[in-house]
Amino acid sequence: MFEHLKPQPADKILALMQMYREDPRDQKIDLGVGVYKNAEGITPVMRAVKAAERQVWEEQQSKAYTGLAGDPAYSDAMINLILNGAVPRENVAAVATPGGTGACRQAFELVRMANPSARIFVSNPTWPNHISILNYLGIEMVPYRYFDAETRGVDFDGMIEDLKQARPGDVVLLHGCCHNPTGANMNLIQWQDVVNLINEQGLIAMIDIAYQGFGDGLEEDAAATRLVASSVSECLIAASCSKNFGVYRERTGLLMAISADASQTALNQSTLAFLNRQNYSFPPDHGARVVTTILGDVALRADWQQELEEVRLSMLGLRQQLADELQRLSGSDRFGFIAQHRGMFSRIGAAPELVEKLRVEHGIYMVGDSRMNIAGLNAQTVPILAQAIVEVGV
Ligand code: LMR
Repeated sequence: MFEHLKPQPADKILALMQMYREDPRDQKIDLGVGVYKNAEGITPVMRAVKAAERQVWEEQQSKAYTGLAGDPAYSDAMINLILNGAVPRENVAAVATPGGTGACRQAFELVRMANPSARIFVSNPTWPNHISILNYLGIEMVPYRYFDAETRGVDFDGMIEDLKQARPGDVVLLHGCCHNPTGANMNLIQWQDVVNLINEQGLIAMIDIAYQGFGDGLEEDAAATRLVASSVSECLIAASCSKNFGVYRERTGLLMAISADASQTALNQSTLAFLNRQNYSFPPDHGARVVTTILGDVALRADWQQELEEVRLSMLGLRQQLADELQRLSGSDRFGFIAQHRGMFSRIGAAPELVEKLRVEHGIYMVGDSRMNIAGLNAQTVPILAQAIVEVGV
């Protein structure tokens, strides 16, 4: 049997992570995988996470199964964090999932189950694993224009033009904030236009929100998701706690299915639970319990928010420092977009050969489409990167 297996394409982000690890050079900079690193290059366990883990360790009496949807207190806490009352609770079905990836996967499966002819419109570019999972599931996907290669902002006219091609029932996948991989984001007026188009054309909104708190702030980053959830008749929201709680390996995510008709919620809920049962049965609990503990405790929550804010501001500082340094070295404003982008990533718009050159000649690792993880930098490496970018001729 096994001899019939065919090698599968490597995930380009994870392959890059491996290449970086294997590079023997001392002078190397990892701007690849989307993991936050502090100035010392460490991905710390957040203070509130440590404290909550201690509390869970002391108080937890049993490791018996939770429910198929995970702990309902986790869903409540996360729904509140993301939607903050924008939608009545009775309209929201939700299950815990293994990370944001698990939430996306379950969402796609739900779409395929509910409407096998639905196509999923994805931004061009989008997170490569969206594409990989959709291909794997055999779901038709249609790219819509998103990134303007000239301005490195959102090609909003192109996006709207492409979304107009969607048929009723098609799904539009949107990044709630901190677009991955580009770092370019719509403003709320543009989001409202997208909502109008979704409603006019009878489309289904799906939001992937994996970086709440990394862009303009915890509330600000959820504003678009709240707008969509409260304005459309049906939507799916896939959320991740990997980055904003720094619990990457705990696989902590949530999938919501929201319907404007609350009488639909019970069926949505049981379908989500069914999908969990088919794929992995009970979702992981540890990360979810830690997150619930933090969100339910005034002091832990405040401490978490403060540390998250420090993380956000450090990335903004690095963006500004890099944009300034590039302006100084290149004598032009053409890298100003780096300070405008939000979240962990910026696509700098370098050709693949230049990305390769940065890796081979300068030990700088960024994803082949020229996505760099800003959090992989520190005050010392920003000038090195800026020099290299100018030297290779980006
Ligand atoms: C990324 O985009 O680098 C992260 O979301 C990590 C991943 O799983 O790809």
